[in-house]
Amino acid sequence: MPAPAPTEPHRLPGGLTLRQAGPADLDQIGALLTARGEQADAEDHRLVVEDPAAGWESCAVVVDGDRVVSTATLLDEELELAVPGRQEPVRLPAGQVELVATDPAFEGRGLVRELMGWAHRRSAARGHLLQVMIGIPYFYRLFGYSYAIDIPAHRPLSRPPVPDALEGHVVRPATTADLSEVERLQGLAQRVSDLRMPHSPPRWQWLLDRHGSTTWVVERPAAGAPAQVVATGRTTAPEDEPVLAELAATDRAAALAMVAHAHQCAAAVDDPSPLVVWDRPGTVTGDVVDAVCGPAPTQAEQYYVRIPDGVRLLDELRPVLQARLAASSVEAPDEVVLSTFRSHVRMPVVGGRLGPPRAGGTMQSPGVHGGAGVAPDQLGPLLLGPHGMVGLSRRHPDVYPGPHADLMAALFPPVSADLLTYYLP
Ligand SMILES: CC(C)(COP(=O)(O)OP(=O)(O)OC[C@H]1O[C@@H](n2cnc3c(N)ncnc32)[C@H](O)[C@@H]1OP(=O)(O)O)[C@@H](O)C(=O)NCCC(=O)NCCS
Repeated sequence: MPAPAPTEPHRLPGGLTLRQAGPADLDQIGALLTARGEQADAEDHRLVVEDPAAGWESCAVVVDGDRVVSTATLLDEELELAVPGRQEPVRLPAGQVELVATDPAFEGRGLVRELMGWAHRRSAARGHLLQVMIGIPYFYRLFGYSYAIDIPAHRPLSRPPVPDALEGHVVRPATTADLSEVERLQGLAQRVSDLRMPHSPPRWQWLLDRHGSTTWVVERPAAGAPAQVVATGRTTAPEDEPVLAELAATDRAAALAMVAHAHQCAAAVDDPSPLVVWDRPGTVTGDVVDAVCGPAPTQAEQYYVRIPDGVRLLDELRPVLQARLAASSVEAPDEVVLSTFRSHVRMPVVGGRLGPPRAGGTMQSPGVHGGAGVAPDQLGPLLLGPHGMVGLSRRHPDVYPGPHADLMAALFPPVSADLLTYYLP
């Protein structure tokens, strides 16, 4: 039987129905998200579904009669992957599943499995080439996700800036009027990374409206001129572990003022915990974090990625691969062969240019065909992750470059990343 369209109600065993959510479900979804997560989740959900930019169609529920027993929401995202030597990145429409919960009385019946199926069908219908997400450990591997992209290092503040660091600066919550400056600062900070995911335009407003975190701006008043926004950052709510994320600034003094303010907020609660600051290596704020923070914990933290159609994604990434090939001194063979073992793809190289990928069947020994092997669950890490072909082939026996090792290393280098997400991972 063909899979139901994401907009169609879908009967499940036990008399349950999976359907698009609607305004009458709002309170029950909010109660379920609060019971299984945090109070702030209900507000976050409401901001999404009541904004026509996302709308009710971005959320689905499983109902038992009128009772909402499980829910999930799919957000629109866009990833950008830098093309060497070009100003414009390749843009990859993506989906992110968020706000997932099942009523304890209905757990273990495959309801989230069904909702993930809905989310992936909706994501495909919206033209998304991949999905990214943050989620509880391991669980989402069951639905085709792999850990692929590093989450920024969380570094404990060990040498807090002196209060004087705030002198000459005003720190206040951002308003809608600040958004263009905030986006500009975030864009500059993200540009040093190969792979970027900005906040979507509607999410900027949700971030200002939500209480689960606060987006700040640092202003520097100037004599006879309007004050300039010189830094921004996002902190967790006072009741949560104190974190300063998304720190972006024009200069060191501005970044230090933001850190000093976040430190003061963290210290102002009963029984304070030390502030944790997210690192952004290669930016001015990265230098400040190096100066004031200790090392990050060694536990790996990564975003999940799901690639529903590797051939299509490779086709979209051709400008990136082409530019990497051109920038390398590697002599390319007649075709680039990449096998995921149960299937493979061939990209012809004609006059130094990569042609469209062609899909083929099982390929057990890609090396014999001059190709590389990559297990399907390592395709996301290979295309978007920090290790590249060289690093992954050291870690995984079923990732290897084959006879054209230099070519594969040039096509699939380590990718640095800076992703902005609704929830702070
Ligand atoms: C985690 C949660 C969403 C699972 O919902 P659910 O409807 O019980 O999930 P499903 O029944 O669809 O589970 C699908 C599969 O995952 C397994 N599974 C369920 N919870 C799991 C977990 N935490 N870790 C690993 N596997 C899990 C199930 O056994 C099932 O396996 P099967 O298909 O082989 O039978 C639910 O327990 C919940 O609401 N937890 C609290 C809130 C939360 O953590 N939300 C996720 C935030 S990212």
